[in-house]
Parts: sequence; structure tokens; C-alpha cells
Amino acid sequence: MVILQIRNVQYQYYDGTHALRDVSLDIRRGEFLAILGPNGSGKTTLLKHFNGLLKPMKGEILLEQKSFKQYSSREIFQKVGIVFQDPNDQLFAPSVWEDVAFGPLNLGLSKDEIAYRVDDALSLVDMNLCANKTVDALSFGQKKRICIAGVLAMKPEILVLDEPTCGLDPAGVTSLMTLLKELNGKHGITIIMATNTVDLVPLYMNRLAIMYHGSILKAGTPEQVFSNIEEIRHACLELPQIAQLMQILRDEDHLPMDRLPLTVGEARKFLISRQHDNHSWPAIGLKYSC
Ligand SMILES: Nc1ncnc2c1ncn2[C@@H]1O[C@H](COP(=O)(O)OP(=O)(O)OP(=O)(O)O)[C@@H](O)[C@H]1O
Ligand SMILES: [Mg+2]
Repeated sequence: MVILQIRNVQYQYYDGTHALRDVSLDIRRGEFLAILGPNGSGKTTLLKHFNGLLKPMKGEILLEQKSFKQYSSREIFQKVGIVFQDPNDQLFAPSVWEDVAFGPLNLGLSKDEIAYRVDDALSLVDMNLCANKTVDALSFGQKKRICIAGVLAMKPEILVLDEPTCGLDPAGVTSLMTLLKELNGKHGITIIMATNTVDLVPLYMNRLAIMYHGSILKAGTPEQVFSNIEEIRHACLELPQIAQLMQILRDEDHLPMDRLPLTVGEARKFLISRQHDNHSWPAIGLKYSC
């Protein structure tokens, strides 16, 4: 079940910053995990450990129950693909096709296999019409898709993304998250994504881990983690917006609810069910009707 195991990892940068303090986390095969945390909490540093770009100073990382030390860097890069926050840090070839082909070319694959993988990866991210474009001529969102295609062309088992929705417009966010959900659900790729956007988590992810000051404060399902509001605020985060509204209705307006709805869909279902229930709902209507 567990594909990647982070065991008591510590990491300190050259200037003495303790970026990771005793981090332990199990990543399960096939899950879509969010790493949520405020700026500077250690998300990027942790992600860079997932494919060996940074090496733990203490602790260890196991991939499929084997220590990273038993793999070559190439083997790890093949199994774990990472997409950086800024696509300009990742793209370097003159054309889209060449950029996506770079990884498979380095694996020494045949020309036919490379062509197949590039076409396949570009069609997965819906960018095959841009194959011959120069990278400079792409929009920011398109560049992000090409970065994902470049990683998918390596056929990774785990896809790691650092704030992939940052800088995208609302339609771009939905389209990227739908793509990631599909890669996870239909293609079975384990996905780990660092984000500051709390609202995305209950909509798309199975589980989340909260980072704060270089440690994992809590990990669990969105229901488990968002049920402790104090802990969320302590980590300088907020509940998803809709959950904030529902929390006010519960705690200040005394609308009884067994569990806090976390998405618009859940809130809508709950409110419609209350509407059919004749006690508490009309009282709220009266209080705010003026
Ligand atoms: N190259 C570096 N040298 C020294 N300190 C660094 C370096 N990179 C990051 N840090 C420090 O390590 C800590 C964790 O940084 P990191 O980039 O992992 O946080 P983050 O959670 O990804 O933040 P953000 O949400 O802003 O992307 C911060 O205190 C940061 O200042
Ligand atoms: Mg970061």
C-alpha cells in the first residue's frame, strides 16, 4: 500500500535554516495527497526530497520499501517525476516537442518509443496541437501543462507538483485539477501536490498533510484535518471558504450539523435537507431578513 515512506527526515540549508525537523509521512499508492502549509513551512524542501534532489541530513526515504540509497538517481527520476512551481525553471529546449522528448531521450529509448511517449504525454495534457511551437510562445498555463507532459513522458509512478495552480486563472485551475484527478483516477498515478489553496483540497484530494515550521502538524482525510479549526488556525491556515460559512452558521447561528460540509456540493445538500426540516432553518431566515 505504502509507495513512499519518509522517516524522521531532517534538513538544514547552508545558512543554518532548519527547513525540515523530523518529518515522517507515508504516501500510499494511488492516493492524491495535498501538502498544505503557510509560506516558508518547508513544502518545497520536502518535495525536493521525494525524488532525491535534496538528501536528508538525518532520517531516510524508502521507495517501494527500499531505501533511496539502493536506487540510482536515474531510477528514482523515472519513478518519481517533479513539476516545479515556476515552469520557466523547468523548460529549456527550444520547442515543445524537444522539451517533452528530453527525458525519454535520456533513457536511451528507441525513436519510435520516444515519439509515441511524447505524443501520448502531449495528448494527455491536451497540448498536441502545440507540439511544434517554441516554448517562449506559450502562455503561462500552457507552459505548466508542458512541464507536466515532460514528466508524464517518463511514465512515472508518482507525480509531485509544487503549487501547480499558482498563477492560473479560475478556468485554468479547474482544467488543471481535472487533469490531475484524471491522471490519478484513470491512470493510477500517485499524486502529491503542495498548495496554499485550501479550497481545492476537499474537492480533489483524498488526504492532506499540514506543514508548519518544518514539521508535519497533522495528516488525514479532509474531514479529519478540517474538523480541528484551532489546529488549522495555529498553522496560519483557514478552513475552505464554504466550510467557514457553515462553521459560522453552526457556532454563531446555532444551526445544528453533525459534520461540517467542506464543499459547495456538500453544503447545498445539507441546506436543502434542512429546508425540508421545519425547525431551525426558518429562524436563520428571520434573523437576517432585515
Ligand atoms: N536555498 C535556501 N537557502 C537557505 N534557506 C532556504 C533555502 N530555500 C528555502 N530556505 C528556507 O527554508 C524554509 C522552508 O522553505 P520552503 O521553500 O521549503 O517553504 P515553502 O513551504 O515551500 O514556502 P512557500 O509557500 O513560500 O513556497 C524557509 O524558512 C526558507 O527561507
Ligand atoms: Mg514552496
